[in-house]
Amino acid sequence: MNVTLSVIKADIGGYVGHSSSHPDVLENADKCMKRAVKDGVILDYHVTKCGDDLQLIMTHQLGENSEKVHKLAWDSFVECTQIARTLKLHGAGQDLLSDAFSGNVKGMGPGVAEMQFIERQAETVIIFMADKTSSGAWNLPLYEMFADPMNTIGLVIADNMHGGFSFEVHDVKEHKKITFNTPEEVYDMLVFIGAPSRFAVKNIYHRETKEIAAASSTQKLSLMAGRYVGKDDPVCIVRSQGQFPAVGEVLEPFANPHIVEGWMRGSHNGPLMPVSVEESNPSWFDGPPRVTCLGFQIANGKLVGPRDMFQDLAFDFARKQALEMAYYLRRMGPFEPHRLPLEEMEYTTMPQVQKKLEGRFTQL
Ligand code: F6R
Ligand code: MG
Ligand code: MG
Repeated sequence: MNVTLSVIKADIGGYVGHSSSHPDVLENADKCMKRAVKDGVILDYHVTKCGDDLQLIMTHQLGENSEKVHKLAWDSFVECTQIARTLKLHGAGQDLLSDAFSGNVKGMGPGVAEMQFIERQAETVIIFMADKTSSGAWNLPLYEMFADPMNTIGLVIADNMHGGFSFEVHDVKEHKKITFNTPEEVYDMLVFIGAPSRFAVKNIYHRETKEIAAASSTQKLSLMAGRYVGKDDPVCIVRSQGQFPAVGEVLEPFANPHIVEGWMRGSHNGPLMPVSVEESNPSWFDGPPRVTCLGFQIANGKLVGPRDMFQDLAFDFARKQALEMAYYLRRMGPFEPHRLPLEEMEYTTMPQVQKKLEGRFTQL
């Protein structure tokens, strides 16, 4: 069976502040999705949150970039924004950058990760969702899952993975893309994806079969709007088992929290802490940045699950480590590298302050 899995998300209002999502908003999104199943637009769905982001996980047979599915997501966000406005939630409708839908949600604010595939005998998919961070946050974990034998032993000892994976990398500032074949082009690729604020891994393919293995959202909100409108809070879909990394290999990178940009006012570096959906409520200095992970088996287009994959005590140590890293970084207050470099900060007073002090700067 040919199935498309679409994950479309938006922050349409936070509860309280930017820390989480209101149950009434989630309930309304569920109603919109239920209606769409009844109308035959989608096969199945799961509504969830990651912090203040509303996540619509949908299966259907309309392919990637389907106008019908994107419109469904857009209309659901608009409808949920009405609830957010009634409750006076913070930043109601913040990620909806346009007033009218025009065929595709790309470039309109919401984040999108989609993939189309022929369902395997057992189709295991893992969906990662992050809050208080930006697109590019998946570069390091995706590299580890699909190209690093220190993480994924399958690359070494599993015959169906030994041929490697190819990575489609996007230059989000210049709007260009390039594909790298791993393992032989790993060093070249790392020159780029080691700079996640500019280069983001968009898709990964199994080299021998050309099958899609992973897809992520690379939308950069600040570049779209030309001003600060909230962090990208990206999502990522990974197919698992068989010719793809096993569930444990897919989750392994998150056992060692890495530092991402985002956190308070989208202007700080901080550890990406793996948490259950229940615990995705970034409220300490609006953070630290969170990642949640839901696992499903797909059966004839139906989402069997989810299992909350980070609801495992094996990730307690990563959470503790992330909190220690967060405490350590917070002691640096407004100084880099805790604070982002000037050009990467989402909030800045630099132009105004510079203007005010113009006459007081003298030549050295
Ligand atoms: C970061 C984030 C928050 C806000 C902060 C100020 O992505 O969403 O840290 O930037 O709470 O929010 P406003 O400007 O909406 O009061
Ligand atoms: Mg928000
Ligand atoms: Mg958010």
